[in-house]
Amino acid sequence: MLDAILAAKIMEREGCPCPVAAYDTIDSTNLELKRRIAAGCALPQLVIADGQTAGRGRLGRCFESPDGSGVYFSLAFRADGSLENTTLVTTAAAVAVREAIERETGLSCGIKWVNDLYLGGKKVCGILAEAVGGCVIVGIGINITTEFSGELSEKAASLGKECSHEALAALSCAGILRFLAGKMPDMIEKYRAHSIVLGKEITYFSASEPPKRARARDIDSRGGLIVELNDGGEETLRTGEISIRMEDYK
Ligand code: BTN
Repeated sequence: MLDAILAAKIMEREGCPCPVAAYDTIDSTNLELKRRIAAGCALPQLVIADGQTAGRGRLGRCFESPDGSGVYFSLAFRADGSLENTTLVTTAAAVAVREAIERETGLSCGIKWVNDLYLGGKKVCGILAEAVGGCVIVGIGINITTEFSGELSEKAASLGKECSHEALAALSCAGILRFLAGKMPDMIEKYRAHSIVLGKEITYFSASEPPKRARARDIDSRGGLIVELNDGGEETLRTGEISIRMEDYK
C-alpha cells in the first residue's frame, strides 16, 4: 500500500515540499488532478497510484497500468513561470525521472525524444504533459515489474528491480520542481548526454505530413530535435513522434 506521508517527507527532504495523495487504484492520476484543480486544490500537488483503470498516454493511447507492478503519478503546478519553462517541462521531466530511477535502482535509462525512457531497447517509462486552465499536469508511468505479453512485449519492458514506489515518484517530482525553480541549469546537457537518438537515422511522424527520414543531429535549447534531412536541409522538430531502427535502441 502506498504511503503518502513517506512520499511527502521525501519531497520535503529534497527541498520541494508538496501535498501528496496516494491511491491503491484510481482511474488516472492525471484525471484525479484535473478534478482536484477544478475543486481549487493547493498547487503544486502530487497524486500517486499503484494501479490505474483508465491510464492515458500520448496521442489518445491507453497506458497499461496494472495494479502493483508499476508506479503511476502526476504532478500539477501553476504555469505562472516563463512560457519557455512551461514548454521545456516535458523535456525536463525525462531528465528528472531518469535521475530518480538511477538514484533508486542504479539503472541508467536512455531518453528517446521527446520524453520516453528506454532500457535494453524497450520503453520502461512514459510521460504525458497536459495544460489545464493555467496549470500543467505532468503524468508519469514507470513499469517496475510489469510483465508484458503479445505485441506490447516487443516494445515495452520494466525496470526489473523492486524499489520504493514512493521514492521514485517523489524524487522524480522534486527534480521537476527544481527545474521549474531554475535549479537545473544543465538540464539540456543532461538530456543530450542520455539521448538514444542523437547521431541516428530516424523516421519522423507528424499529423500533418507523410513520414520523413532524417538523421538526428542535436537538441536545441528549447528541447527541439535538430535533424538533417536526406536532401541535406535541416529542420527542428518540436512535436510529433520519431522512430529509430530497433538495433539502435540500445
Ligand atoms: C505515453 O507514453 O504515451 C505517456 C504515458 C503517460 C502515463 C502516465 S501514468 C500516470 C499518468 N496518468 C495517466 O493516465 N497517464 C499518465
